[in-house]
Amino acid sequence: MVSQRLLDKLNEQMNYEFYSSQVYLAMAAYCSSESYDGFANFFIVQSEEEKFHAMKIFHFINRLGRRAVVSGMDNPQNDYSSLLETFEHAFSHEQSVTKRIYELSDVAWTEREHATMNFLQWFINEQVEEESTFDSIIQKLRRIDNDSNAFYMLDAELSKRSFTPEVE
Ligand code: FEO
Repeated sequence: MVSQRLLDKLNEQMNYEFYSSQVYLAMAAYCSSESYDGFANFFIVQSEEEKFHAMKIFHFINRLGRRAVVSGMDNPQNDYSSLLETFEHAFSHEQSVTKRIYELSDVAWTEREHATMNFLQWFINEQVEEESTFDSIIQKLRRIDNDSNAFYMLDAELSKRSFTPEVE
């Protein structure tokens, strides 16, 4: 039986994933307004992925026979001054997600809640990928500097990103 404390932490993480979806949608809006269309696509897909993460926790809470509690969060940042700043903010956001997942996992570990620990392993692995993706794009943006050809190649690469939810 999952404790109320652990259930609260799961709910908190679910809501933070929904918030993450909004954070990335706002970044997509910024990119789109600047005609960085490939980058906008990247963030739209990221936003969809975050909603998928939230729904994974929603369904897990349901499977536990408990009730998910949806709550509102702060407004996401909507204004950015450059692509690099946008991606640095995204990377920092992912680091905060990782910290939260680890804290949640620590609570599950303390309570010896093996099913939840097992469930959270997917998120732990996912965070390695997410941080790596953002870090890699930041490195590329720094290297590109004022090379417009390289910039448009990266924009074209990111325009191909798509989201296919895995079947559970
Ligand atoms: Fe769901 Fe990007 O963390």
